[in-house]
Amino acid sequence: MDLHWIGAEPTDIERAAVDDVVGPVEENELPGAELHEHVVRSGLEEALAKRHLLLPALNAVQGRVGWLSPGALDYICRRLSVPPAEAYGVATFYALLSTESRPPRVAHVCDDIACQLVGAENLCRELEATLGPEGGAWFRSPCLGQCERAPAALLQLAGEDDWTLTGATAASVAEALAGKRSETPLPSAAPQTHAPRAESLRILRRVGRAGPSSLDDYREQGGYRALRRAFELGPESVLREVKESGVRGRGGAAFPMGVKWEAVAKAPVRPQSVVCNADESEPGTFKDRLLMEEDPFAVVEATTVAGYATGSETGYIYVRGEYPLAIRRLQHAIETAEKRGFLGAGIMGEGFDFRIEVRKGAGAYICGEETALFNSIEGFRGEPRSKPPFPTQVGLFRKPTVVNNVETLVNALDIVLDGGPAFAAIGTKESAGPKLFCVSGHVARPGVYEVPFGATLREVLDLASGVPGGRKIKTILLGGAAGSFVGPEEIDTPLTFEGTRAIGATLGSGVIMVFDETSDMRATAARIARFFRDESCGQCVPCRVGTVRQEEALSRLARNGDGAREKVLLDELAQVMRDASICGLGQTAANAIVSALAKGLLSRETS
Ligand SMILES: Cc1cc2nc3c(=O)[nH]c(=O)nc-3n(C[C@H](O)[C@H](O)[C@H](O)COP(=O)(O)O)c2cc1C
Ligand code: SF4
Ligand code: FES
Repeated sequence: MDLHWIGAEPTDIERAAVDDVVGPVEENELPGAELHEHVVRSGLEEALAKRHLLLPALNAVQGRVGWLSPGALDYICRRLSVPPAEAYGVATFYALLSTESRPPRVAHVCDDIACQLVGAENLCRELEATLGPEGGAWFRSPCLGQCERAPAALLQLAGEDDWTLTGATAASVAEALAGKRSETPLPSAAPQTHAPRAESLRILRRVGRAGPSSLDDYREQGGYRALRRAFELGPESVLREVKESGVRGRGGAAFPMGVKWEAVAKAPVRPQSVVCNADESEPGTFKDRLLMEEDPFAVVEATTVAGYATGSETGYIYVRGEYPLAIRRLQHAIETAEKRGFLGAGIMGEGFDFRIEVRKGAGAYICGEETALFNSIEGFRGEPRSKPPFPTQVGLFRKPTVVNNVETLVNALDIVLDGGPAFAAIGTKESAGPKLFCVSGHVARPGVYEVPFGATLREVLDLASGVPGGRKIKTILLGGAAGSFVGPEEIDTPLTFEGTRAIGATLGSGVIMVFDETSDMRATAARIARFFRDESCGQCVPCRVGTVRQEEALSRLARNGDGAREKVLLDELAQVMRDASICGLGQTAANAIVSALAKGLLSRETS
């Protein structure tokens, strides 16, 4: 490995931020630090073993100083033996990392589809007028996962905790940038947990009842009974219950969880690991945020159960960088569980050792794709890998890995406690168990709703008290930006994997975004197209070029009326992206646009 240092020096603060992550500099470390070039002739394995600290180190400097100076980057590279060109490639991959100097306080203002519905464009125009053009103190951002409290902004503050501003106005963004911080706790994002509380809740049963920072509260509400039961059953019986439950992934791909767990448990290669996918960057999705913020011990316990059943020693919870509160609460839960013997060596007096690390993302939707997530944790650009091999064979650090969505994992607690068949009895044969839906847009009570699989779209919208002001529904986006638009005539569709498939839609990550008759669908379609153009990792041509061409064709369509040529082009692009892209991002980037065209939502009269 041939390393060429930039030759810039870090400041003391930058040095300290890196050392906090990597550890103090040891004697004889940084050989060649005084040189501008350093050839690593041996110890490559050792150097690669530290590479996973690259993103945490970049995040640490960004968090402490507000940007990544050449001196800081150089120091990180020297400490981790990473070629500077590669570290630069990683740093520039993420939206929340900056390799250019910028103010220590910046606001990332969401202008994505749910925020657009409540005036995000006006908000951005006002910010332009008051704070100056985008790129200084504020930036436009894709969905921040706060759609039920739109419009939202993420305050990224050097040397302080980041936080999220909801119901944002130009004035509140300016105040936040000036250092004023809202201390008023927000009500839970799950209206069913407010008074009068819905009694039938399963996944949400502890939300609002157990303080998210209290392990004692959690245990009073039944916490850690599932792990105790798992120890009584033994790993093989836990696997059997999970398989019998029929639970399928809630992260979008709907793969049976039991099949994954069993494959990893039986894998001949060791050590295995569990990854809890908490990247949650699909526009319109915020259910995992609710679980992590309001019931973090459940996420920790469920990841531990997965570790036990699959014979893993380590768990990672990869949380998007835009969720500072979720990250803090999970970290607190992990530390508390460790102190009280629920994590670490000999958990609950049994001979099982398991540790969990929180890994913080840095603003990249693609890192929710499981193999991109592995690359991100390993310290590389978050680019998806070709599959097969699948994660159960070759996953994180090239070892067998279970990767599950937060909500999927939390279901494991009930499955272990009540048994697989009891779980399978909820919902339908193909779609077992309870399900969380993220309801946003033009509804009176947006939020996360829990229903058994099989409830209809109408029933969920009724829970959210329907469209305000007696206005009619124009369309509903099901499944997120990678999902599709359905019409009001499809409102009696059962919300199951098979029910949505029957109408050519998908449940995706559980998004239900409502657009009333006043909505500007061309603006929504344009924002979705921009999202995919921005978020494509650029690795494969159909997606890298296709998402750009899709956006251009849509803007021509908006200018030139109902251009038949553009519609044909959009259809062809959709087909190529679907058939020839490496990963799900490219394969689904045209879904919403194609469905909007098919429903006539983009023609002059309807949009
Ligand atoms: C572009 C893209 C983004 C994704 N983002 C997420 C995500 O944020 N959270 C998630 O759980 N799964 C996400 N997935 C799906 C994961 O690749 C994977 O299927 C999932 O984490 C498996 O967990 P599950 O079986 O519990 O659903 C994404 C997939 C793609 C293609
Ligand atoms: S489909 Fe898009 S996001 Fe996925 S690997 Fe290809 S370029 Fe990257
Ligand atoms: S927070 Fe703005 S669209 Fe989700």
